[in-house]
Amino acid sequence: LPVTVYPDMLAASKVVAGRIAGIIKQKTQRGEKAVLGLATGATPIAVYKELVRLHQQEGLSFKNVTTFNLDEYYPMSATAVQSYKVFMNKHLFDHVDIAPENINIPDGELAQEDVAAFCLDYEKKISGYGGLDLQILGIGRTGHIGFNEPGSAPNSGTRLVSLDELTRSDAAHDFGGKANVPSKAITMGIGTIFKAREIILMAWNAKKAEIVRKAVEGDASADIPATYLQHSDNVEFILDEDAASALT
Ligand code: F6R
Repeated sequence: LPVTVYPDMLAASKVVAGRIAGIIKQKTQRGEKAVLGLATGATPIAVYKELVRLHQQEGLSFKNVTTFNLDEYYPMSATAVQSYKVFMNKHLFDHVDIAPENINIPDGELAQEDVAAFCLDYEKKISGYGGLDLQILGIGRTGHIGFNEPGSAPNSGTRLVSLDELTRSDAAHDFGGKANVPSKAITMGIGTIFKAREIILMAWNAKKAEIVRKAVEGDASADIPATYLQHSDNVEFILDEDAASALT
């Protein structure tokens, strides 16, 4: 499993943003759309900041970009500060020239009976765009990628899942207490992520060192969904020194 370690989060984030910009430029040159799988949370914030800088200062255009976000809490109001929709607008979409109709994020406002059809449609839409050119990932302390918690099947698709208790504890701060954290989410599946032509998993901070060690060096199993990535030929882990500190 290819692992690249950078001195710090900023240096690593610039490399990831550069890769994304490269895909956008290459696809645009060919007259094609770049199809990006995006993540939320603390991990990709500096990547988005650098993409905004590349747009504002170096003319990188998002006119030919279509995005699919990994996940959204369920239920979740689209205007709530904790929603991934608000997060993406704040950190990226409000600051670049992406067309709103090219932005796709699982819908946390759906009625329960409409969720299954939405999830199937999300899969079809990704395939309809020719699949994801690149999926970026963070990793949760349960070993989740997207919100594919322990027990997730390797061929899973976009679906409604229950969040692990540790994941809900880690989100408690954002929600003003764990009791306010939704118990469910809509997430792309492991199978959805695997279909991306390129996957980059990022992790920063010593808090991630132990789960990164298990993901890279542990046996591949459903207990730690990120270990499934060991079976991918198109994945790279990009770490800062702290997140890499438990690797042997
Ligand atoms: C977010 C997502 C999650 C996060 C993970 C790490 O869209 O899918 O898997 O990447 O929970 O979160 P942070 O980056 O906040 O440590």
